[in-house]
Amino acid sequence: MRDNGVFASFRAAMPARKPRALTPADYLTRILNARVYDVAQESALEIARNLSRRLHNTVLLKREDQQPVFSFKLRGAYNKMAHLTPQQLKRGVICASAGNHAQGVALGASRLGTQAVIVMPVTTPGVKIEAVQALGGEVVLHGDSYSDAYQHALTLEKKSGMTFVHPFDDPDVIAGQGTIAMEMLRQLQSLDLQRLDAVFVAIGGGGLISGVANYIKAVRPEIKVIGVQMDDSSAMMQSVAKGRRVQLQDVGLFSDGTAVKLVGEETFRVSRALVDDYLTVDTDAVCAAIKDVFVDTRSIVEPAGALAVAAIKQYVAKHRTKGETYAAILCGANMNFDRLRFVAERAEVGEEREALLAVTIPERPGSLRRFCELIGELPSFGGSKSPRSVTEFNYRMSDTQRAHVFVGLTTTQRGESGKIAAFFSKHGFESLDLTHDDLAKEHIRHMVGGHSELAREERLLRFEFPERPGALMKFLLAMRPGWNISLFHYRNQGADYGRILMGLQVPKADHKAFAVFLKELGYPYVEETQNPVYRLFLRR
Ligand SMILES: Cc1ncc(COP(=O)(O)O)c(C=O)c1O
Repeated sequence: MRDNGVFASFRAAMPARKPRALTPADYLTRILNARVYDVAQESALEIARNLSRRLHNTVLLKREDQQPVFSFKLRGAYNKMAHLTPQQLKRGVICASAGNHAQGVALGASRLGTQAVIVMPVTTPGVKIEAVQALGGEVVLHGDSYSDAYQHALTLEKKSGMTFVHPFDDPDVIAGQGTIAMEMLRQLQSLDLQRLDAVFVAIGGGGLISGVANYIKAVRPEIKVIGVQMDDSSAMMQSVAKGRRVQLQDVGLFSDGTAVKLVGEETFRVSRALVDDYLTVDTDAVCAAIKDVFVDTRSIVEPAGALAVAAIKQYVAKHRTKGETYAAILCGANMNFDRLRFVAERAEVGEEREALLAVTIPERPGSLRRFCELIGELPSFGGSKSPRSVTEFNYRMSDTQRAHVFVGLTTTQRGESGKIAAFFSKHGFESLDLTHDDLAKEHIRHMVGGHSELAREERLLRFEFPERPGALMKFLLAMRPGWNISLFHYRNQGADYGRILMGLQVPKADHKAFAVFLKELGYPYVEETQNPVYRLFLRR
């Protein structure tokens, strides 16, 4: 019976009732009923043996990096779509994303036989556009940023009647991501582990952690859920601290999977209520964690995928825990290949496996040799006893009294760089520790050089030194006293040979002897003295 009478007008006058907030028990039901396995796999839960040994705690890795689209995002996206009515599916789905969500939506939609429109910023790299298209998604490029693309997707949604699939702020998406926690707790038993002390979860908009926290707090509330964000992209942490959602003006993009300026309403509500603690990590720590994951699994995760591992290391260092069990969700592996070089470079510093120093050496014969000897005499400071390698050595003659050298050395434990600097300074080579100096690491190391008034009669040679201890010492010992190194440029790039560029001041009268020296040394080299680029940037 249609109700057109007094009750209808009475109801219309009443304010619309806000839907009741979902409890962990409600989410538990949704997670148990979630549909994800048409597209997602039950990912493995593995013990990270090396990392566990190093940290004296058991570290478990939940391998969401091995999902068909290399991230967990397809779970939530598919669960949302699988709950749409046949009519809604007929009209298709739409989303805005330049990353993992886009691929999840495209794959899920093709499995359900529905059309997926993905709005991406025009700045999206070609590889990501192609990946979405290969999965059957229809790409619309719009605007410069994610926010522009998002607004455009909302406009298209209204016009087309398609259903918007939110990347995080939707109970069905959250429930889909929660299936990760459901699997994890079950898998603990097959690993014969009774105990799990904490689960570490990367946060972008908060969908993943909301799903995980709801399941864990409903089933095993004693297990801590710890949220992890980048230090330059911590919208959830700041929002929880302020008690309201905070919109960030800018976010760092290194961990692009978690670079979100405004968290969701529902994800904020859930995180605020259920997440036990939050941690932030920095770029170097994430690079080091990518390496840790590689060492244990021989797989490379994207920055967002390594956040949780970086946080476990930080947590153990801070709380000095032993014998506990922690799980990290490796949430994605969509790594830009170009970024690997940066990651490898910073991983050593992030892990404090490399000390970077500015060392001042008196500009007089034999002092470089003395400095190389001193490197060989460096104590182990309680770390590994194996000989240190020189990872970087950059120098350009610019002063008649002193030479400033940018030096990199391998280390085996935290805090060693300061001790090395003090040791050099004590032995007459004043040193500055640059290990944590971003200006030095990002720019100055590449800028040591330039024209030198003093580099007369200079010859420029590009050498291949064997990458083994003593190769430079052999070179220095064979040099005649009247010859001078006026330029030195070396960075260990992981190759089997060290590529070294060297400027040498050799008086004309010694050119024959110098040719003999090079022949006897036997290191392959190319003379670059006539190279125009040398003349443009280094020669007066
Ligand atoms: C690899 C990866 N990790 C973490 C996240 C963050 O997930 P959420 O936005 O649900 O917090 C994302 C989001 O796209 C992601 O792609």
